Amino acid sequence: MQQLDWKNLPFGYIKTDYNVRCVYKDGKWGNIEVSDSEYISVHMAATGLHYGQEAFEGMKAYRGKDGKIRLFRWDENAKRLIRSAEGVLMAQVPMELFHEAVLKVIKLNEKFVPPFGTGASLYIRPLLFGSGAEVGVRPAKEYTLIIFVTPVGPYFKEGFNPVKIAIIRDSDRAAPLGTGTFKVGGNYAASLRGVMKSHGAGFSSPMYLDTKEKKYIDEIGAANFFAIKGNSYITPKSDSILASITNMSITKLAEDLGMNVERRPVAVDELESFDEAGACGTAAIISPIGEITDLETGKVYRFCKDGKPGPKSTKLYETLVGIQYGEIEDKHNWVTIVE
Ligand code: PLP
Ligand code: COI
Repeated sequence: MQQLDWKNLPFGYIKTDYNVRCVYKDGKWGNIEVSDSEYISVHMAATGLHYGQEAFEGMKAYRGKDGKIRLFRWDENAKRLIRSAEGVLMAQVPMELFHEAVLKVIKLNEKFVPPFGTGASLYIRPLLFGSGAEVGVRPAKEYTLIIFVTPVGPYFKEGFNPVKIAIIRDSDRAAPLGTGTFKVGGNYAASLRGVMKSHGAGFSSPMYLDTKEKKYIDEIGAANFFAIKGNSYITPKSDSILASITNMSITKLAEDLGMNVERRPVAVDELESFDEAGACGTAAIISPIGEITDLETGKVYRFCKDGKPGPKSTKLYETLVGIQYGEIEDKHNWVTIVE
């Protein structure tokens, strides 16, 4: 195994030893196969390639001080993959199959779970796609599930330091009654122009607004948005954003801390009134936002005025990460020990 610089891992692909695969054919799922190849052989007319009939997931496993590997809320990712499969009419991966395949791929690649104290983790990427051939626009009859893992560091190079975000108004990641609530590849293809525009202008990520009126905040690239105002945790309610499992978790932690939770449409104009703002997701963890710039109007909203993350975001971050690495009691039973 190559020597990995665990403390400085990017959020990127690093080859591990094995991945697992499973095919749905003739109306049923086959056995879980283990592969050491990074490549797949796919029919050139597969619906996943032509018509975007695919969905993916992202979750992480963490190594604790005790050396144990902890998998965070796999059941929520399994449920979301079922919802995404429903969204683009794919065969659903049963919870038990998902569970078995995820545990298997982690155990096979145990040595790639970063050591405790490095801030890194093992990212687990399940992918489900139509592998059956069709030329007409219709669902495939065959589906393939592949799960690979890769050790990662934080998504934003800033880590738990303020990031700069750009409000994008000239492209959308999802339509109002489209696929925004599903974790399907098409949403990410649609987001690429916004992502590259924001990077080109020196920002970490785009912020997308609601597509109907461009009045409310939807989400931030590959993360949900949250804000803190006084003792309230505020996060957008929208029909076109992905229901983040990280957001669901920190909402619970905010309640545990005695904060009020507001899940409602959040107008862009409100940004001015927030004490703290952040992006949250499996890859992004909790990333405090320092500045949000509206690329069209030039207006800048500033948070973290002293250059440091705010106290409530910090508390939420420390609690979440503490639970994930086994340092803080897992009161809500979010963690599965991989044995
Ligand atoms: N929103 C989008 C568009 C995402 O891709 C992700 C990443 O999965 C999230 C939000 C955060 O979701 P989660 O916390 O479940 O990773
Ligand atoms: C995740 O947080 O798991 C994501 O899916 C982000 C990814 C699109 C880079």
